[in-house]
Amino acid sequence: MRSKIVAGNWKMNKNLAETEALLAELSAKLPDTSAEVMVAPTYINLTSAVRHLESSAIEVIAQNMHFAESGAYTGEISADMLLNVGINTAIIGHSERRAYFGETDEILAKKVTTALSKGIRVMFCFGEELADRKSDNHFKVVESQLKNALFALDASSWSKIVLAYEPVWAIGTGETASPEQAQEMHAFIRKTITEAYDASIANDVSILYGGSVKPANAEEIFSKPDVDGGLIGGASLVADDFVAIIKAI
Ligand code: 13P
Repeated sequence: MRSKIVAGNWKMNKNLAETEALLAELSAKLPDTSAEVMVAPTYINLTSAVRHLESSAIEVIAQNMHFAESGAYTGEISADMLLNVGINTAIIGHSERRAYFGETDEILAKKVTTALSKGIRVMFCFGEELADRKSDNHFKVVESQLKNALFALDASSWSKIVLAYEPVWAIGTGETASPEQAQEMHAFIRKTITEAYDASIANDVSILYGGSVKPANAEEIFSKPDVDGGLIGGASLVADDFVAIIKAI
């Protein structure tokens, strides 16, 4: 079912003590909301975060996972390891994983398949680079990212998928897609899913926007009909800012 979601991707920030302090502050300040609130601390602090938020409405999610069950993959984390510490959702396909760690559509398709087969909910990230938008290729790029990683899935898998459209040029740059640009792309994403599957799947999937969402612009972005929330980087590291963004939804 389509739901409102605000998720904080902490990336490679916050050590253990800082993680616990931020979680404590967030828990104390969490506003009453019907939206799902999630945070993705770094791997090494997931276990502690889950324990810390045991009686909280905030869900702890992973920033990544490997596609293999287990084995000789030095430095990687499996789906079962996540489940074992109480993580049920994983971000897959973040543009930083694509850009710095060589994650291709093919690798991402495998990760999605593994996650879903294990019952892990997937927050799938995608989005065009600045050059794609400048050359008016952004719709084509987004369509192919979706198609290559997701469109081989059967229809029933889509209930475990959340999409996060994150234009690369808006990530960590302070430059945000305008609410109109976000709405235009989100509507295009629903149209693409309708063509590949059907309208009910397209209407039921939550599509988040990510890229320099801040307290000052969140409300306007979230007010667009096809924007179901946000995946927040920098602003999720400051409790008051993240809380303000949650309030905006
Ligand atoms: P910023 O909010 O820092 O631009 O990061 C967005 C993002 O990459 C979330 O995954």
